[in-house]
Formats: sequence, structure tokens, C-alpha cells
Amino acid sequence: MAEAFPTLFSPANLGPLTLRNRIAMAPLTRQMAHADGTPTDEMAAYYARRARGGLGLIITEGTYEQDGWQSKSYMSQPGIATDAHVAGWSRVCDAVHAHDCRIIIQLMHGGRVSDPRVLNGQPPVSASATRSEGWSLYTDNSYEKDIRNIAGEWPKVTFGQARALSVADIHEVADGFAAGAGRAIAAGADGVEVHGANGYLLWQFINPATNLRTDEFGGSAENNLRFAKLIGDRIRAVIGPDKLITLRLSQDGVDDFVGAWPGVAYAKAIGAALQNSAFDALHWSSFDYLTNRQTDDATPMPTVIGRASGKPMITNGGIATGAQAEAALTSGAADIVAIGRPIFAHPDWPYIVRSGADYDWLPFDRKYVVQPPLDYGLAYPVGLADPLWPTA
Ligand SMILES: Cc1cc2nc3c(=O)[nH]c(=O)nc-3n(C[C@H](O)[C@H](O)[C@H](O)COP(=O)(O)O)c2cc1C
Repeated sequence: MAEAFPTLFSPANLGPLTLRNRIAMAPLTRQMAHADGTPTDEMAAYYARRARGGLGLIITEGTYEQDGWQSKSYMSQPGIATDAHVAGWSRVCDAVHAHDCRIIIQLMHGGRVSDPRVLNGQPPVSASATRSEGWSLYTDNSYEKDIRNIAGEWPKVTFGQARALSVADIHEVADGFAAGAGRAIAAGADGVEVHGANGYLLWQFINPATNLRTDEFGGSAENNLRFAKLIGDRIRAVIGPDKLITLRLSQDGVDDFVGAWPGVAYAKAIGAALQNSAFDALHWSSFDYLTNRQTDDATPMPTVIGRASGKPMITNGGIATGAQAEAALTSGAADIVAIGRPIFAHPDWPYIVRSGADYDWLPFDRKYVVQPPLDYGLAYPVGLADPLWPTA
């Protein structure tokens, strides 16, 4: 029988890695590490379960790379800052590798939208001395409101006034990313992703609305990318050429869900600035990669950035079915697709898609698995042959 989605299931070279197919799991914060940031056995089981479903690559949830510098963003967020973190991640990496899947650890710094409860009384840091307008807490139970001490239907989570990083600080934070990357590789990861998207520190540098600097780290696309590129260079110096380094980019942020860059020209300039960078690939983050929120040119942003940078694109956002994934790959918008919420909901997404089964995918809740009251137990088509998973 012909392969249902031949491009999606063809092996791919991504930087120094060979992947068994073009399906990556998008990074998804789960806040299920120990309080000290050590990855739990639950995390190993969670990632291994999804690797077993047939993924080519897992990009982990955002992980803080160093203690200090206010890099931690969430309670129960995993870190890669200590020996205990390395030991925890090494259990995760081993469990994922047992299923012939590669794994890279996403390194992030929360910048001005770090949860104030994890900042030990310090102000958050950012590109400039700005303050996030906050975001509405999306939750369907009262627990999260209670622990944040807020109330109401769409309560606002607020953040403190940020302190602008000095140039000396920027170099220290870049070194922190590089050291974190070194520990990720020591834990057995196949590479790292630098989180430059979704409203966090590097996004705050890349986005002209939040980067008001007048030094070499602000004022133009080239300058706004300088910090991310510096981090890429420092990481490469530590982990060498045989490991993957990607950079994630987006227009929107957790505190700006409708964020837009100033025109497609800015996306082109970002791509051009990343041509000569240490990144093996770039990763487009969105909730719908086909909608670029621009009026001057409707070309999907990953297509624009891929062309301008000459880098392979990992494309994410609103890809839920095999047909959508295949179309992203064959249209030139993606070299690899990254699937987020559907892989939360369906750990066997690749296996189900590959079967060609005509399956009625359930709607995905933004934060949790499938929309209540739909039942997770429904998340499987009937009548598929036994996949003969390895028992490792
Ligand atoms: C609960 C949740 C947690 C997320 N955590 C991260 C994260 O840690 N790092 C990141 O880069 N993106 C994160 N994202 C964004 C997703 O990677 C992805 O961009 C988004 O879910 C849209 O893709 P999808 O349509 O395939 O789900 C998160 C999204 C959700 C819903």
C-alpha cells in the first residue's frame, strides 16, 4: 500500500542529525519537574510515551539554563543548571532514545514575563526597562487562581518593571546559555533549542516594540538578533559541530497573542541576519503558521524566513492532521513540522497518521489535552493493527 504521507514519513537530515521522519514534538511546558528543577520520572515516562508513538524529534519544554540571572520563568519548571538536573534529563534522554527518537532541550530565559514567585524578590530583566502588560490567565479551575492569589473570570497575571541588561550582563547570560547547553549534551541530548520566541527574553530583544536599545543590541533587525546569535556562537564553541542547535522565533508572545512584526520586510531582515549564524535550523512558532498577520504580503512567515536565511525550517502552528503536515512540507513552508497540542492529546499521533486511518481528530484545548468534556479515552481510532512497539 502506498505511504499515506510520503514526505512526512521520509527520513530527514537536520544539521548533524538524521531523523527517521519529519515529525517533531513542539516544546510544551508542563510544570512537572521537582521544585528544585530536577526532571521527574513522570517526565521521562511522558516523553518516552510520545517517542514510542513514532516521532522523529522531541523538542523539550522550555528549561532554565542557569541559576541566577532570573532565568527561571515558571514554578516546577525543569532546569539544566545543576548536576541533579543533568541526572534527571539523562533519564529522559535515555528513555526517548530507546524508541529511536532524537531529543533536544529547549533553553529559555523568561525575561520580563518570568513568574514573580520564582524571582526571589529580584526584578525581571529585559532588553529595555519596560513592563509587560501581563496576560489573562487561561484556566478552567480555581487552583491556579488560588495559588496566584487572583480572582475573576479572566484574571490578569501581572509582572514587575524590568531592569535592562547591560552589555556585560548580556555576555554573562550568553555564557549561561552555553554552560546549560554543555550540561544538556552531558545529559545525552542530541542538541539544544534556543528559545527566541513567545514573549520571553530573546523575543524581547528581537521584537522592536520591546527593544528600545540604542547600542549594538538594538535599533535594527541585525542588532536585535545580535544577542541570540552570540548565544548560538557560544553554544557551538561548547558543544561542537556534531550536535543540533536551533533557534525558535515568533511574532506573538504569552503576553501578546496577536503580536505582529513591522511588515514582512522585518521577517526578511531577520532571516538575512541569521544567514551567518551558528544555528542549524530555525523554528517558527505560532498558533497558525498560514496566517502571518501582515497586510503587505500573505506569504507564510516560515517561508519568508526560510528563503531569507537559507536555513531549514521547523514549522509549527495549527498543524493537526497528516494532510496539513504534508502540505506544509510540500509547499515549501517547512522542512520539519512541529506538532504541539495534538501530540499532547494523542501520544501516537505519528502512528495514527501513518496508518492513513480516516480519523476525526478531537478539538484541542490550548492548555490541557482535549476539550472537556471530551474523553482522552476516545483519542484513538479503532481497528488499527498492533503497532508492535519495542518493549524497551
Ligand atoms: C500548554 C502549552 C505550553 C507551551 N510551552 C511552550 C514552551 O515551553 N516553549 C515553547 O517554545 N512553546 C511552548 N508552547 C507553544 C507550543 O510549542 C506551540 O507553539 C503551540 O501549542 C501551537 O502549536 P500547536 O498548534 O501544534 O499546538 C506551549 C503551548 C502550550 C499550549
